[in-house]
Amino acid sequence: MEWGMKNRLSQLIQKDGRAMFLPIDHGYFQGPTSNLEEPGKTIEPIWPYADAIMLTRGVLRAAIDPAITKPIILRVSGGATMARRDELDNEGITTSVTEAIRLNASAVSMSVYVGSEREHQTLMSLGNLVNECEDYGIPTMAVTSVGTELGKRDARYLALASRIAAEIGARVVKTYYCEEGFEKVVRGCPVPIVIAGGPKADSEFEVFKWIYDALEKGAIGVNLGRNIWQHEHPVAMAKAVRAVIHENATPKEAQDVFDAVKSGKAD
Ligand code: R5P
Repeated sequence: MEWGMKNRLSQLIQKDGRAMFLPIDHGYFQGPTSNLEEPGKTIEPIWPYADAIMLTRGVLRAAIDPAITKPIILRVSGGATMARRDELDNEGITTSVTEAIRLNASAVSMSVYVGSEREHQTLMSLGNLVNECEDYGIPTMAVTSVGTELGKRDARYLALASRIAAEIGARVVKTYYCEEGFEKVVRGCPVPIVIAGGPKADSEFEVFKWIYDALEKGAIGVNLGRNIWQHEHPVAMAKAVRAVIHENATPKEAQDVFDAVKSGKAD
């Protein structure tokens, strides 16, 4: 592996082999979604606890201080919106690799929709993006999204989508956690896996538990958005999630961190 690629990956994946990515890219198809109406304000108290921030160029330019010291994962795909839910898989590349370099991105990310009508289109976009990014030593993270005909948390589907994204050349794959068979998803994917959270869960303990279990089964960390910044206590969530990822905190210990920060007994 070239020095530049290694250097960028080591900015994202920490020395302990773990990673906590904080995505605020949701507006690229959801618009001003809840608690992300003003992304700069949302992220201000929580970014210090993340290892990298994932977002689009528009939000990066408008809302993030260029002096920020966190690595940036630039979302470069889009072209669909919530206004046409049946067309959500109809994505292309919206942001050039030149732009990613100009913005000093440490990685780029794009969605692939395995099992959907535009599966081929998005997988070919991934191949083209990887081809271009590899020339410059920029890692590509594949955001495997949910196909319409296969179950979101079905291990066979997650394993299929993750493996295919890795085969095409993604350096990191984002998928979802599933209780049954997640270790098979990890075993079948030759590159590091991070998990997303999806919509806000009923309890924070639930979030700590599935992150902990995913790490036990081989994931390297998370690309976790709404379960942090849509929570009433985002800083407490960010600190507790960080404790699970980088301090091997159990769900119970993470809950203690959360409760202590929430109640003001800890910073
Ligand atoms: C989808 O909008 C994005 O790709 C997110 O970055 C990804 O789904 C992770 O965010 P969350 O944990 O909110 O699902």
